[in-house]
Amino acid sequence: MQSYSLIAPGKINLYLEIIGDRDDGFHELVMLLQSIELADRIDIKASDTQAITLHCNHPQVPTDQTNLAYRAAKLMCQTFPEVYANYGGIDITITKNIPVAAGLAGGSSDAAAVLVGIDLMWKLGLTKPELEDLAGKLGSDIPFCISGGTAIATGRGEKLDPIQDLNNLWVILAKHNNISVSTPWAYQTYRQNYSNSYVREPKDVKMRQELVNSGALVTAIINQNSQKIGKLLYNDLEKVVLPEYPVVAQLKSAFASSEALGTMMSGSGPTVFAICQTQSQAKTIAKQVRDTLAQPNLDFWVTKLSNSGIQLQTD
Ligand code: C5P
Repeated sequence: MQSYSLIAPGKINLYLEIIGDRDDGFHELVMLLQSIELADRIDIKASDTQAITLHCNHPQVPTDQTNLAYRAAKLMCQTFPEVYANYGGIDITITKNIPVAAGLAGGSSDAAAVLVGIDLMWKLGLTKPELEDLAGKLGSDIPFCISGGTAIATGRGEKLDPIQDLNNLWVILAKHNNISVSTPWAYQTYRQNYSNSYVREPKDVKMRQELVNSGALVTAIINQNSQKIGKLLYNDLEKVVLPEYPVVAQLKSAFASSEALGTMMSGSGPTVFAICQTQSQAKTIAKQVRDTLAQPNLDFWVTKLSNSGIQLQTD
């Protein structure tokens, strides 16, 4: 049977605002999500047994059922039991390029690629909305990873409204390899400190979403105004993560003092990104910040914004 290779790009949050609590225990969010070219590779093929097997070249990535990619395969087997019985087990190999536990949706994108890969391998012909529905059962930002690009995400993060693509900018990613931030911890700590500002009434939630929809950052993206985009980046979770991890705050300050268009922590961190006009500017700033901070545990990547979600690898 045919095997499939897929490209699973990471994402950054250009904007992340926490609006309030939801009945399901999650937070009501309004975000602007943006794909980046830095991507993992997922190879998927049928196996001789009925088992799901997972391999990964990164020692920190679990290869058991705690891995989201494994859970994505399991969800497909449970959702389409007859097709699963017909085709047999699934063998998945993940080649990691996106930093792990970084706020860049690496694990989520791998899971999205597994859904897309199995859909192709089993010739299910699922539509984008059907794939996004399945993705939403696995995690809040997995639906976005399917189609990628630039999108406003609301609800838990699973309701998507694609907007004008923004793919002409470069981005530096920087992450301390000795720090990982628990996403549940970040949201829970935010709730403890800021729930007095939460709104709950549907009309108030809608108003907060509309403020972003018609707001300055979306307008700047539509107008491709990179100077403004850089200045309007926003992430509520910085309020809890930066005080807890001073080196991450220091990293953000270093980018803020550079010539970059703007800088922000992505998701629940600890990756900090900086937007740049050109690749050479991004490389120069990455080197300056590396030299200024001189922290041995700090890793850098230079990549480009992208308008793609999961794609088939054509080589
Ligand atoms: O959906 P995902 O697995 O990415 O969420 C990880 C954790 O982040 C959740 O368990 C929850 O604690 C928090 N979260 C939240 N509200 C959201 C998304 C995530 O509270 N909309």
